[in-house]
Amino acid sequence: MLIVSLIVAILCVTGVVTRAEDGYRLWLRYDQLPERMLNLYRPRVTSVVVPGRSPTLDAVREELAKGCAGLLGNPVPVKTEVDQDGALVVGTPKSSTLIAKLGWERQLINLGPEGFRIRSARFGGRSAIVIASNGEAGALYGAFHFLRLLQTSHPIDHLDISSSPRLQLRVLNHWDNLDGSVERGYAGKSLWDWKALPETVSPRVRDYARANASLGINGSVLNNVNANSQSLSAEYLRKAAAIADVFRSYGIRVYLSARFSAPIELGGLKTADPLDPDVREWWKKKADEIYKVIPDFGGFLVKANSEGQPGPRTYNRDHVDGANMLAAAVAPHGGTVMWRAFVYDAKPDYDRAAAAYDNLQPFDGRFAPNVLLQVKNGPIDFQPREPFHPLFGAMPKTPLMPELQITQEYLGFSNHLVFLASMWREFFDADTYAKGHGSTVTKVADGSLDGQRLTGIAGVANAGSETNWTGHHFAQSNWYAFGRLAWNPDLDSRRIAEEWIRMTLTQDNNAVEVIARIMLESHEAVVDYMTPLGLHHIMWPGHHYGPAPWWDDSKRPDWNSVYYHRADESGLGFDRTKTGSNAVAQYHPPVRDRFARIDTCPEKFLLWFHHVPWDHRMQSGRTLWDELALHYQRGVDWARAACKDWETLAGVIDPERHAEIAKRLAIQERDAVWWRDAVLLYFQGFSKRPLPKGVEKPQKTLEEYKSKSLL
Ligand code: GCU
Repeated sequence: MLIVSLIVAILCVTGVVTRAEDGYRLWLRYDQLPERMLNLYRPRVTSVVVPGRSPTLDAVREELAKGCAGLLGNPVPVKTEVDQDGALVVGTPKSSTLIAKLGWERQLINLGPEGFRIRSARFGGRSAIVIASNGEAGALYGAFHFLRLLQTSHPIDHLDISSSPRLQLRVLNHWDNLDGSVERGYAGKSLWDWKALPETVSPRVRDYARANASLGINGSVLNNVNANSQSLSAEYLRKAAAIADVFRSYGIRVYLSARFSAPIELGGLKTADPLDPDVREWWKKKADEIYKVIPDFGGFLVKANSEGQPGPRTYNRDHVDGANMLAAAVAPHGGTVMWRAFVYDAKPDYDRAAAAYDNLQPFDGRFAPNVLLQVKNGPIDFQPREPFHPLFGAMPKTPLMPELQITQEYLGFSNHLVFLASMWREFFDADTYAKGHGSTVTKVADGSLDGQRLTGIAGVANAGSETNWTGHHFAQSNWYAFGRLAWNPDLDSRRIAEEWIRMTLTQDNNAVEVIARIMLESHEAVVDYMTPLGLHHIMWPGHHYGPAPWWDDSKRPDWNSVYYHRADESGLGFDRTKTGSNAVAQYHPPVRDRFARIDTCPEKFLLWFHHVPWDHRMQSGRTLWDELALHYQRGVDWARAACKDWETLAGVIDPERHAEIAKRLAIQERDAVWWRDAVLLYFQGFSKRPLPKGVEKPQKTLEEYKSKSLL
């Protein structure tokens, strides 16, 4: 044994055994940069000067020393003063007299406690780079920003950067259960080892916090929206507090999903009626108890009266009664309530796409000031493509917090490569016309359209216990993209992709180009082979993996595929115009009118809003049927090409990750074929038309596709 250890140790020292490329380090790898950059950077980064002691300042110092040393391939010592050219001086005017003397007070105040300034400067004739903020969290974000500049080969000789987050609450939602399982999680078990907590906190918790801080994510909801009351018990609060203790240094607040009926289950009360004085008192006391153990607790996330969850309506009260009661409990401590708008009733003959608006819009202006309404990007449920949710632009007196899903529930789990930045870009850029042209979702979300004082964004997390955090190595890019867009929702998808590739996979310019193209094309391709032209929710029920357009067996009509595509011999699609559900009326004109007319509706949403004859002429001059079939084929062609393109990168990407990614791309190709064949064969039963030229013959029969799910 001793001999084996000795041999391993010798091999490590001599560099024969190198670190396994398992993806654990995410985009914070800090491996040595290419030679050409070293010559430029080394003289400009010679020491790290982070005066003052605090958990956050200590984290800044450690990250910069480690990051710079790794990237530059030589030691970058931590010093207490600037005694040579190339010092990195970091902190706040309070923590550093050097920064206090710069006279940047006004600029730093304007940037806020999370914003930062990075500037080339001189101290006593010596050149330096200053990373300054009015708050320690801002200094931390600035430090990570600086590291990103190095990681992406950005020039650093004349730096003058100011940056601050556009949205205040930038929060990950973990749908993690107390038994360690993760709802819609595709990367192992929960990150939180509830059994071992609070005594033992896994080192992963700190690395998770670092990864989030590197993007500016400042909140994390630890437990599933389908919440268990136990997470609010004294025992579990101590566990959550242990996590919060690690997060704090990285500027991250802990939030918890609250089960509305907790006063009954935990408190032994007979009711959870939000207007009952005992219930109100119970929540107030619970909030006081939480803040005793987690002084910077962020607040509650609530899924109420949705998919069987309890809520105020269980007691004939409304969403405002429920949200404001919880808001009153956390308000004295500065907490917030994120009330979810994902509410749809089980009523006969209604349109699920219209439900959230119908349920919530009438309450505009009635929520307490510390309540945000958390609204999914689209009106159904995280589909590969949806039009923006009509609540955006419809509740000017309520802060709306977009909820994006990073985990790929409907997008091929952790098997498919889909870069979601492109999808989110489309969402942010959508023009609601709430106040005329230019009233984009971004402006609703960042509060500028209606002057909101509170803003935020949530992403349903895709990180789990797997070594590489996200299952598919490329799924890391979606966590990355969420964080970058939460900081600045105007960021360009290509820029995000290129940053991530350079930091995570390779600095080789040609490879960066190939990979960026694959990533940027991927969302459209997945839409092509899953749900083109506005189709939606035709996945296999329950797990939502693979196609099942024939599905008609669920007890609720709106859990059936046939409810959504409405295929018959006359055509395909859900009529949401006046002749149908008229859900389109929830949009402002002229969006409403554009969507409502078959000749002006963007083709990507055609079957979302219209029941369209099979022979309808599309912009291409082809019939709907032919166009649909060609979209599916295009998706398959892309999946094949992606496999080939990836093959060409062998030798550029490390063998471990190259092989793992290749394996998943092969699954994606198989699935794309399955999708194309299953959906086209099924719809062909209605269209009664042959497949157009260029579309391959199906590999199996419809019966075979129907007999088992792809999972
Ligand atoms: C989807 C998902 C559920 C989840 C729900 C929600 O319906 O399938 O697992 O609970 O969204 O967002 O609340």
